[in-house]
Amino acid sequence: MTKQQNVLQPFCKKCGDNPDACDFTCYPRTLMHGMDGNGGIWRSTQVPKRYRSSFLSTLPIKDQNPEAYAFVKRYIDKVTSVVENGIGLYLYSVPNKENRKGTGTGKTTVATAILNEFVIRRVIEHTKGERSIEDNPALFVKASELQNTFNSQFRGTDESREQAASKFNKYKKLMLTVELLVIDDIALRGTTEAYQDVFYEIIDKRYNEELATIFTSNTSLKNLAGVLNQQIASRVEGMTEDIAFEGADNRKGGIL
Ligand SMILES: Nc1ncnc2c1ncn2[C@@H]1O[C@H](COP(=O)(O)OP(=O)(O)O)[C@@H](O)[C@H]1O
Ligand SMILES: [Mg+2]
Repeated sequence: MTKQQNVLQPFCKKCGDNPDACDFTCYPRTLMHGMDGNGGIWRSTQVPKRYRSSFLSTLPIKDQNPEAYAFVKRYIDKVTSVVENGIGLYLYSVPNKENRKGTGTGKTTVATAILNEFVIRRVIEHTKGERSIEDNPALFVKASELQNTFNSQFRGTDESREQAASKFNKYKKLMLTVELLVIDDIALRGTTEAYQDVFYEIIDKRYNEELATIFTSNTSLKNLAGVLNQQIASRVEGMTEDIAFEGADNRKGGIL
């Protein structure tokens, strides 16, 4: 496994210019990356490996989506206060002839960059004694995985159902409480009423508690009610600023 670089290093007086000085004896580093360097808060966010090095400085969207970039930059510059104020985002694609689904326009890259930058700033705040971290500060959830886990509670063997129920309850508990939640690719497909109920419960709680949530989607807010339902769509709309992503699919090559 490639070793995770300490994301706090650029901000550290001790190891900023001397990576050798960075080891497990450093409290903020261990809080962020765990004793072995592959755990800690950084891992607990569940950001997929592909997006773990997504930051403001590496965002690729400036040329293709300058307005989105300018907005995101302002958001990240004040990320701890906007999150504290419960300001969420709805990052969506505008499909076009060349890109019929609006995929690969940088939505997940942006959502994870915001989450990563937020976590770094929160650990710095905690370390300086400004505002402590009580629980996992942020979580990335793929909507399809959440939905599949929910459905698995009602299918298969007793053992697999129990596993799914326990996994879903863990997700749910965190989703109800984390300071910043990213839900990736919502409204990709229709859902059962039972799933809509529990998804609504989560979204409604975050809406009422003014907890910041960032959604990515290939469905515009206008069409969200058609795929999920009106109640969910109106909560999502009420808790977010929407940002459109346009242009070509930048997800290159690949073997599939
Ligand atoms: N505007 C862009 N210019 C260059 N590469 C980009 C751009 N937007 C996204 N990418 C790259 O395309 C890939 C897919 O991006 P991703 O954020 O997963 O897209 P989406 O979530 O919109 O489907 C990533 O490797 C990302 O770095
Ligand atoms: Mg995506």
